[in-house]
Amino acid sequence: MSRTTAEPYGKSTGLKLILVAIFGVITGYCIGSSFPRIATMKVELPRLTPNAEDGKYLEKVNSALCTNLFLNSKSRDDTKIYVTTNPRGAESLPPGIIESESDFYLHSLQGNPSEDLVIRPKYLLALTVGYNQKNIINTTISKFSDDFSFVLFHYDGRTSEWDQFEWSKRAIHISARKQTKWWYAKRFLHPDIVAPYEYLFIWDEDLGVEHFNAEEYIKLVRKHGLEISQPGLEANNFLTWMMTKRREDVEVHKVTEERPGWCHDPHLPPCAGYGDTLILEFTGKLVKRTFYNLIRSILKFVEIMAPVFSRESWRCVWHMIQNDLVHGWGLDLALRRCVEPPHEKIGVVDAQWIEHMVLPSLGDQGEANDGRAPWEGVRARCNAEWRELESRMAKAEHEYVHRNVQ
Ligand SMILES: *[C@@H]1O[C@H](CO)[C@@H](O)[C@H](O)[C@H]1NC(C)=O
Repeated sequence: MSRTTAEPYGKSTGLKLILVAIFGVITGYCIGSSFPRIATMKVELPRLTPNAEDGKYLEKVNSALCTNLFLNSKSRDDTKIYVTTNPRGAESLPPGIIESESDFYLHSLQGNPSEDLVIRPKYLLALTVGYNQKNIINTTISKFSDDFSFVLFHYDGRTSEWDQFEWSKRAIHISARKQTKWWYAKRFLHPDIVAPYEYLFIWDEDLGVEHFNAEEYIKLVRKHGLEISQPGLEANNFLTWMMTKRREDVEVHKVTEERPGWCHDPHLPPCAGYGDTLILEFTGKLVKRTFYNLIRSILKFVEIMAPVFSRESWRCVWHMIQNDLVHGWGLDLALRRCVEPPHEKIGVVDAQWIEHMVLPSLGDQGEANDGRAPWEGVRARCNAEWRELESRMAKAEHEYVHRNVQ
């Protein structure tokens, strides 16, 4: 009862009480008007020792708090956003803020973000590497200009040792033990991530590049309208498919004469496009298949060693790469599904050519088993994956056709 009279407390105490009262009203208003939000916000209220300084401070805090709460509740209630054309899951964002694509550009920790990038590389080189091949990789990278971003996929887990090379500091290093080029590509080269790059080079580590220059290569790819390409391959004492074999008489070739009787259609692999296995699809003859498998089994690896994709073709190819089929066997054949017409947009650049060095690499990191060399187990998996990809593709096509008939 004695507290109802302000008399004994003096003038300044009265002021303090008024401030406290105001504070209470504001806080009450804010809490009341945004109850569900503040309940989860954990706002720590300042202690209530009223002096003039605290009073000012409290008012500031409260006006900021109120403004915030007010704005939030306004945008939530009055302008509810739902844009169906936004990327899936991001419909509640105003389209102007959405960044659906990214890049491998390195940024500064300080300064103005718009001044971070002195150059914006237009192309990407992704190499799957082991440290033992460091000198070859250093030579390979020397053939690629500043117009390239470099990504190194380290299958042996050794990343920091590469810093002896000057270029390593501007490269992106990604490490996962004993994983293949296609495993990495599927996980780290999503088309939305590599969107700014006009051409993607997804290369193996054991390539001789003495007669190769990346800028010249891109000029030829542009000139001949190639969406998927690879440099001509100089065969040194091992079997090479005619299609990828370097020809000395032309800049670029898109068709080739395969060994007699191998071409069902001159516009289809193995006589055009990438690839080597296609005959099976068209003849379906067991005898050829057997012969073909024999050839394939003689080769230790028939991978796509040095493919170059345009941005558009990569968007398609990435979607075709299966998460579990890590060796990419059979992909060479399927590539033609990603460009139209394949016999004009897939080709081999002979004027800029490479050599396959056939060095021990990831394939030899398999495990020795039952007296078999490590690479034998890997090759068996490659072959199995190749058949699996074929059958998945056939099944998918069948399902698609069937659905359309219904
Ligand atoms: C890397 O390659 C460049 C160009 O060929 C060469 O000048 C340099 O010495 C090499 N670096 C090392 C550490 O071998």
